[in-house]
Amino acid sequence: MLQWVIFFIGLDNLSQIKLKDLNSFGIEATCNDFVSFVSESEIQSWLANNKQNANQFFVIGGGSNLLLIGHVSKILLQADIQGVEYQEEGDKVLVKAGAGVNWHQLVLETLAKGFFGLENLSLIPGNVGAAPIQNIGAYGVELKDLFVELEAIELATGDKISFSHRECDFAYRYSIFKGSLKGQYLITSVTMQLSKRPNLKLNYGPIRKELSHINEQDISPKDVSEAVINIRSSKLPDPNELGNAGSFFKNPIVSAEQYLQLKDKFPELVAFEINDGRYKLAAGWMIDQAGLKGYRLGDAGVHKHQALVLVNYGDASGKDILDLARYVSKIVFEKFSVTIEPEVWILGEASW
Ligand code: EPU
Repeated sequence: MLQWVIFFIGLDNLSQIKLKDLNSFGIEATCNDFVSFVSESEIQSWLANNKQNANQFFVIGGGSNLLLIGHVSKILLQADIQGVEYQEEGDKVLVKAGAGVNWHQLVLETLAKGFFGLENLSLIPGNVGAAPIQNIGAYGVELKDLFVELEAIELATGDKISFSHRECDFAYRYSIFKGSLKGQYLITSVTMQLSKRPNLKLNYGPIRKELSHINEQDISPKDVSEAVINIRSSKLPDPNELGNAGSFFKNPIVSAEQYLQLKDKFPELVAFEINDGRYKLAAGWMIDQAGLKGYRLGDAGVHKHQALVLVNYGDASGKDILDLARYVSKIVFEKFSVTIEPEVWILGEASW
């Protein structure tokens, strides 16, 4: 029996679906259609029976990287596919996880089994299916470092297609699913390669300091995971307590020339050279230096402990958060001549 969950749809306001619980910002927004599937075959049957242009759909994951504004006219689709399969081969382990698996639960499950590699990505909100879309990353590791392949259903045809690492075209907070294939696929599973031998990545910012109470040779992947959890919990607000979508902006990438000019003017500038010679600037530092950390516009605010994160103090609308984001971006541009852009998806009655 088909088990998809479909919430229908009416022309009057009463039958609109409320999306507050479906986005980590906790913003009141509505849509007419929201369909959640528990298997690939359900998605395929539903698509066969509901022929639409693919751009009528929007794929929603865990709703943790999303800013909803007002009424969403698209049909929201969600692949709530559970299950994790492990295939061991010597020291290596292929982990294939369903799109609906909670990311952090997967990190904890793999660590408990002694399969390492995801520890630096602990406590990232959201589900597995959304992870490749923006190539999630934290504390010196990105999904692309472990990614093998993904499976997805093409919304226009219902065909199941695999994408290799190369085909995903990963970059910083980017994949082809944010570029030329935007909105065209519903990701159903992601396969990663982990290892039974730890290969610790301790060089990012505060990790070593957080682990300074342990001798370096005794540090385990579980310790790294705990360190990341501690650092994240101290800086990033818990969406259950204060609505937010993690970093609201991407860290901007500038040429070496622009970096040198900025460094000259702002010697404390926080920046990291990336492998093509350009520099990634810490947008959180720039927002902070612009005096906006803790800034509040009604119920929309810049987080007190991490200026890259915008928060909903309670009743902010999507438009309130967007207005604040535009203001922050404007002030940063006035001070640094650098444009910062949203990392989150903006969906509904306004756009960036
Ligand atoms: N900084 C400040 N003030 C602030 C915020 C940051 O001075 O208010 C400085 C920090 O002291 C540090 C630098 O800016 O020197 C970078 O800050 P942080 O290490 O907190 O990282 P980030 O660049 O702000 C990125 C990711 C985070 C990820 C962390 C750790 C993006 C857009 N964000 O933030 O990812 O957890 O690095 O790797 O790349 C997310 O994507 O939602 C997210 C939280």
